[in-house]
Amino acid sequence: MPSLSIYAGGLQLNNPILLAAGILGTTGASLCRAARSGAGGVVTKSVGSLPREGHPGPTIVHVEGGLLNAMGLPNPSYKDFQDEIDAARASGVPVIASIFGSFAAEFAQIARSLKADAFELNLSCPHAEKYGSELGRYPDLVESVTGAVKAASNVPVWVKLTPNTADIVELGLAAQRGGADAIVAINTLKAMAIDIETGYPILGNRFGGLSGPAIKPVAVRCVYELAGRLEIPVIGVGGVSTWEDAVEMIMAGASAVQVGTALLRGYGVFEEITTGLSRYLERKSMTLEELCGLAGKEKLQ
Ligand code: SIN
Repeated sequence: MPSLSIYAGGLQLNNPILLAAGILGTTGASLCRAARSGAGGVVTKSVGSLPREGHPGPTIVHVEGGLLNAMGLPNPSYKDFQDEIDAARASGVPVIASIFGSFAAEFAQIARSLKADAFELNLSCPHAEKYGSELGRYPDLVESVTGAVKAASNVPVWVKLTPNTADIVELGLAAQRGGADAIVAINTLKAMAIDIETGYPILGNRFGGLSGPAIKPVAVRCVYELAGRLEIPVIGVGGVSTWEDAVEMIMAGASAVQVGTALLRGYGVFEEITTGLSRYLERKSMTLEELCGLAGKEKLQ
C-alpha cells in the first residue's frame, strides 16, 4: 500500500486525515479515541482566555445537506484545558490546539501558556460577537494576530479562515505575511433556519454556521484558489465525508484534510477514508505528493 505519511504545516503526520476543530475535541479521551480510530492528527475544540457557556439553545439543527451550529465557543478556558491536551498527546498523534481571542495579545497570551504540538487560530467562527470572523475578515488583523502568536510560541501556527468574505486569498496572503505555517480552509458558512410553524429562527442565536456535504464545493473552490496563490500548505476542511471527497480536496491542493460533521457516522470514518485513499493511490500508481494539487496541474489519464 502507498505511504500516507506526510509532512504538512510543520508537523509529521502518519496520514493526512485529521479530526477538525469543534467535533469531539473537548476531552482528552475523545481526542485519543479519534487518534486510535485512525486520525493522523487531532484538533481540539476552540479554547479562549475565559470560561464561556456559549449561546442559548437550540445550538444545533439538522438541515438538508448538513448541520447548522451556533455553539458560541463554549469552553472551560485554556487554564483548565492543558490536562485534556496532555491526555490526547499520549495517543502519539499531533494535537493541534484551536484557540480564539478578540485581539492579538489575547491570542498570544494563550499560545504562550498552552503546550500543544501546534496552534490553529480560530479567525473564522461566523457567529460569536467580537471573535472569529469579526476579526478574521480583515487582512490586517489576520496578519497581526498570526504574527503575535508566532512571536509567542515555538510550534507551528495554522490559521483557519472564513469563507464568508469576497476574497479568501487576500486573507490567506495576510496570514502568510504574518508567518503562518499553514492555512486551514474553511470554517462554516454563516446561515440560518426558520421554524415555519412558529415563525421563529430555530437556533437560539438565530444565526449559525453551516457544515457538512452542502459546503464541500465551496471548500474545494477556496482550497484551489488558496493553493494556487500561497507558498504555505493549505489544509482542506468542509463537507468531507468520504474518501472520494478527500481525494477531491487533495487534488484541489490540500496537503491534509480535516473531517468534522461526518463524525456523526462514528469514529469509523477515519479508517474508511484512509483505506479508500490508499487504495485509490495504489490503483492510480501515484503518491500523495503527486495527487496534491493535481487539479491545478494536469489531468489524470
Ligand atoms: C462554536 O463553538 O460556536 C463553533 C466554532 C466555530 O464555528 O469556529
